[in-house]
Amino acid sequence: MNFTIVLAVGFSCSQNPILPKKKSTNWIDTQKDDHSYANVDQVSTKHLHLDLDVNFKNKTIYGVARHDFGKHTSDTVIFDVKHLQIQKITYGDKGNEKELEFVIGAWDKDSILGQPLIVALKKPERFVNIYYQTTSKTEALDWLEPIQTQGKVHPMLYTQGQPILTRTWIPLQDSPINRFTYSASVKVPKELMALMSASNPTEKSTDGLYKFEMKQRIPSYLIALSVGDFEYRSISKKCGVYSEPELLSQARKEFDDLPKMIDVAEKLYGPYRWGKYDLLIMPYSFPYGGMENPCLTFVNPTVIAGDKSLVSVVAHELAHSWSGNLVTNRTWNDFWLNEGFTVYFEHRIMEELEDEEYSDMLALIEFGELKEEIKMFKRENKFSDTHLKLDLKNRNPGDGLTQVAYIKGAFFLKTLEELVGREKMDVFLTNYFNTFAFQTVSTEKFVEYLKEELLEPNKIKFDFDEWIYQPGIPKNCVKVNSKRFKEMQKLAIEFAAGNDVFEPKTTYEPIPKSWRKKRVTKQLKRSDYSTQEWMEFIRSLPKKMDPEKMALADAYMNFSRWGNSEVMTEWYVLAIRSDYKPAFLPMEQFITQVGRRKYLLPIYGALNETPEHRQLALSIFETAKMNYHFVSKSSVESLLGL
Ligand code: BES
Ligand code: ZN
Repeated sequence: MNFTIVLAVGFSCSQNPILPKKKSTNWIDTQKDDHSYANVDQVSTKHLHLDLDVNFKNKTIYGVARHDFGKHTSDTVIFDVKHLQIQKITYGDKGNEKELEFVIGAWDKDSILGQPLIVALKKPERFVNIYYQTTSKTEALDWLEPIQTQGKVHPMLYTQGQPILTRTWIPLQDSPINRFTYSASVKVPKELMALMSASNPTEKSTDGLYKFEMKQRIPSYLIALSVGDFEYRSISKKCGVYSEPELLSQARKEFDDLPKMIDVAEKLYGPYRWGKYDLLIMPYSFPYGGMENPCLTFVNPTVIAGDKSLVSVVAHELAHSWSGNLVTNRTWNDFWLNEGFTVYFEHRIMEELEDEEYSDMLALIEFGELKEEIKMFKRENKFSDTHLKLDLKNRNPGDGLTQVAYIKGAFFLKTLEELVGREKMDVFLTNYFNTFAFQTVSTEKFVEYLKEELLEPNKIKFDFDEWIYQPGIPKNCVKVNSKRFKEMQKLAIEFAAGNDVFEPKTTYEPIPKSWRKKRVTKQLKRSDYSTQEWMEFIRSLPKKMDPEKMALADAYMNFSRWGNSEVMTEWYVLAIRSDYKPAFLPMEQFITQVGRRKYLLPIYGALNETPEHRQLALSIFETAKMNYHFVSKSSVESLLGL
């Protein structure tokens, strides 16, 4: 029987608890997860086995989630579910199962968490099996029609679990506090290949049946599945890339340096502990640049820029194999421990692969975004969202996905590094990853560890409290400079002042003579500068430009169809504010094809600034939304106030 009751699940506030003074490895983290109903402190999944049947006709996954709790003493288990249909729940071994009664509790006020699924046990049973199916409201899944794929012949499916969407495709205890191993038997149409965040096949099976195993304990948000017409190309023994055949050789070329990246990462912070490291090239609708699913990073195809200029995204996802996947944020309020550490690590990898100037440019581009965001939070009276440690109770944990977690977090570590020196910093981080490997860590636990292992032994005064529990950017924040960026800023000022700084011979459009009256001060070609420098050039132009000057820049450099999505996003935002109409069609094509949140939000945001452009935004969104994953679609909807 399946009915709904009103359930009061009261969790205490999780801010700032005092941790018992114990040796770091023994600390008891007491913080509760505000974003899960699961009673993981009483009973928790140790291993999950999934039997899944992926049905493209009905766009439904029919599944059994077999939870193994090991020994425990609880008479009730609480799972998280959202928009799932539960058929029955049993206890016992496969083939020897008996039905159990269950209750599905009430929704939370804003329908963020979903519902608690409460199962009463006869005695503390070890195995509980949930028979279920997904529904059309399921938020993690993106079902693509053949026309939305590269190959246009086969459909595709992928999941996005982080932060709390796994409960919309698997009934489980959806909190990073608990870690478990998993295995899966997955049935898909036999023309397609199934891949998971686990050990993976490198060829299609003949019958559409696939088996997976993840032998390391992971948090629930890292379970991932993708089904499509995939092929594998190995890059080295350790790593390779999956994609639709159409993109495979391009992808293989772009990520040529992956083995080097892994070597660099291991040299920095110790062995990669997950076996193989592969990439899967996602469809354009994928809402993120990358997602660190263990063993199989999901990569947005926009990262394949053709010149390796955006591979830092892959460095970032690889770094998560330490920060995030090995040592995991305890709750979504501690998200900066995942992302801030990862950005710091990403920059270190890129510094080794390229040079310091390069990683400084990456850092500065992002720092600019952080400053803008902090101003916005201040304006909107949400200044406390600029703390590293957040309080997201009764809010969507996705609200924590800001440059604060990423960039303020990374600059926290950069500042520490400057204080203690790189050598000590690296020993500290390596020990941190080893000490807490396969565990979750709260901000408070990290702070205790930081004091004990780095600050006190080195007699260093560092106001971590200001960084973590106060808004804005602390005064002691390390300063990053870039000569190359200064040059771009000068160039932008010169160009905005009316001087023609571009190379006259390389025009994409004929230039009217009247535009060329001014002195030619530089003769620039696209290849003179890196992607990051061009971004800085566009950013350094006035917020609103004379459309004629935009046309001139476009005629020489073709910014509107530049090809690199980072550069184009900067350009489109400027073009919208300048009402430079020739950029509107390529902009529309871009946001109709690409579903990456990072690009959609600034572009729709700029469009939303005037009534006329808002109308355009609404009409583009009306057709484009079918190409977006739930996450991007709902983000754009809330931005446009729909
Ligand atoms: N884990 C994140 C993506 C994420 C965060 C998904 C929170 C859902 C909730 C991933 O590692 C990430 O940070 N991606 C970035 C790439 C990057 C280089 C900063 C992105 O998508 O832009
Ligand atoms: Zn990340």
